[in-house]
Amino acid sequence: MFSRFAFGLLSVATLALAATIPVKRATVCNGRAELCGRSYGNVTFGGAHDSFAFSKNPLALARVQEVDVPTQLGLGMRMLQAQSHIKDGVLHFCHTSCALFDGGKVVDYLKTVKKFLDANPNEVLTLILTNPENQSPAKVWKPAFDEAGISALAFVPPALPVKQADWPTLGEMIDKGKRVVVFMDAGADGADKVDFILPEFQMIWEAPFSSTNDKFPCKIDRIDGPLKDVEHMYMINHNLNKNIIPLFGAEVLVSDPIHAPKTNGVESILADANGCAPLGGARAPNFVLLDYVNLGDPMAAVNRLNGF
Ligand SMILES: *[C@@H]1O[C@H](CO)[C@@H](O)[C@H](O)[C@H]1NC(C)=O
Repeated sequence: MFSRFAFGLLSVATLALAATIPVKRATVCNGRAELCGRSYGNVTFGGAHDSFAFSKNPLALARVQEVDVPTQLGLGMRMLQAQSHIKDGVLHFCHTSCALFDGGKVVDYLKTVKKFLDANPNEVLTLILTNPENQSPAKVWKPAFDEAGISALAFVPPALPVKQADWPTLGEMIDKGKRVVVFMDAGADGADKVDFILPEFQMIWEAPFSSTNDKFPCKIDRIDGPLKDVEHMYMINHNLNKNIIPLFGAEVLVSDPIHAPKTNGVESILADANGCAPLGGARAPNFVLLDYVNLGDPMAAVNRLNGF
């Protein structure tokens, strides 16, 4: 009798509380009040190419970054790209091969990312993962996300594929706590699929990668159906490579930090974006993928593309 009475009182109190306390809504999203009401599909994010492949050693030829992932995030990068390979039966992030550049276990990388997410609850973050060995999303990838604590934060679209115009706003994603968007280039739509690991090319097209031309001529290089081209978001691969063996027809491409301040400058990034815009429904790119994100002034360009 007493307990039922107490329970009744408690629920009245809860109801009263719920009526007086307004639902907490994010007022600043990814550092900007203006972004809370903007659709995810209408935001430009700076991205770190092979984000795990950082080294201060200029002789590490397979590096493409100088600073570590927390520093990349601190600089404002909100898309992290990474390439996976299996090493000794465990999923690692490695550049081309683990013998060339081993960025460590995927689960450890994801734990680093989770620390950032916990410390920054009003940030939407995108991961674009490459899966060249076609490892199973359900059996190999998801356990790493589960162990790192990221699965619960991952955005699951109500239906696939999502058109560029149909994404929720950053504010909605933050309010719901579903603020990590995970794309995978291969294997995400097979029998072993996972609801939060999204097939990249069904929703994002990419301009060519490994460009050795500093004008970054644009074309739709990789895309998948069934959406129309302009219903996709799009990414520019704005990193410049140099062929270090220009003879004998062989190609060994390395990312050259010497050119990075210019490549990552406002002028070069905006020119690349403008070159792609006609193919992207006259919109700015959604993702600007960069090497050496600590060089140049990429966030100034990203802010301009977002209209700031
Ligand atoms: C967002 O929409 C504005 C207005 O249509 C447009 O100028 C801008 O390029 C769009 N950005 C992206 C990333 O879609």
